[in-house]
Amino acid sequence: MAYETLIVETRGAIGLITLNRPQALNALNSMVLKELLQAYEAFQADDAVGAMVLTGSERAFAAGADIKEMQPLDYVDVYGRDLMSGWDDVAKVRKPVIAAVSGFALGGGCELAMMCDIIIASETAKFGQPEITLGVIPGMGGSQRLTRAVGRYKAMDLILTGRLMDAAEAERAGLVSRVVAPERLLDEALEAAAKIASLSRPSVLMAKEAVNRALETTLEEGLRFERRLFHSLFSTEDQKEGMTAFIEKRKPAFKNR
Ligand code: CAA
Repeated sequence: MAYETLIVETRGAIGLITLNRPQALNALNSMVLKELLQAYEAFQADDAVGAMVLTGSERAFAAGADIKEMQPLDYVDVYGRDLMSGWDDVAKVRKPVIAAVSGFALGGGCELAMMCDIIIASETAKFGQPEITLGVIPGMGGSQRLTRAVGRYKAMDLILTGRLMDAAEAERAGLVSRVVAPERLLDEALEAAAKIASLSRPSVLMAKEAVNRALETTLEEGLRFERRLFHSLFSTEDQKEGMTAFIEKRKPAFKNR
């Protein structure tokens, strides 16, 4: 299928999606949202794909929601179409997604990275929620996901002042999983995705579900949820294979069953 705003390809068992609006620093307009959901759906349905990587250009992962698209809208327009609500579906994709971030990840770009499960940043990456400088606030989850990622005080600093933070600060703050040299960025993300894709699919999906549940529930409920998922994996052939292979000192041959 042909995409206008994305480059979508597979690399072995990895679905690779590259945001491709260079003239607008990958600003996220309604076409990007539509196409990203299509690409995710296709990779979600493809049994040969075990994980995804989402990346942008060297200069920008994404410089935010498209300001030119939003500028003429009024309250009735944005309330009526519940502007930005479609991005909630992007965050709901079940297979793991690694964000490979180089350059600007601002506003909706930072929020899109936070919808991914692992954020690998180039040393050149810059993160921020500068919406306040436009007379608005984050609208794709920034006030909620950034606060959960970095805590109230760092989130307030970024969201109230609109300042940018570099990759080192983002890693110290807990927003970024790993920082790598610019030339390593894509390979590092693809290697991590390939590792995930090589593991038993049910355990990978359940691991993602379990970690995400930690953000939504009490510790007691979360522990119960984790344990039930853990128990359920003992119904898979891959649990037998994984543990038998360990004892027999060989590599497991997972069947994703
Ligand atoms: N929307 C639309 N177009 C954008 C854009 C955005 N978010 N960010 C950059 N562009 C466009 C610019 O308008 C420019 O296009 P033209 O050449 O046609 O003028 C092109 O991309 C290149 O940008 P600059 O010339 O500005 O490049 P720069 O290197 O001087 O600056 C930048 C880079 C600091 C990232 C600057 O572009 C910038 O501040 N961008 C906006 C960042 C921002 O405010 N993001 C938040 C958006 S609101 C949001 O995301 C709401 C939400 O939470 C849902």
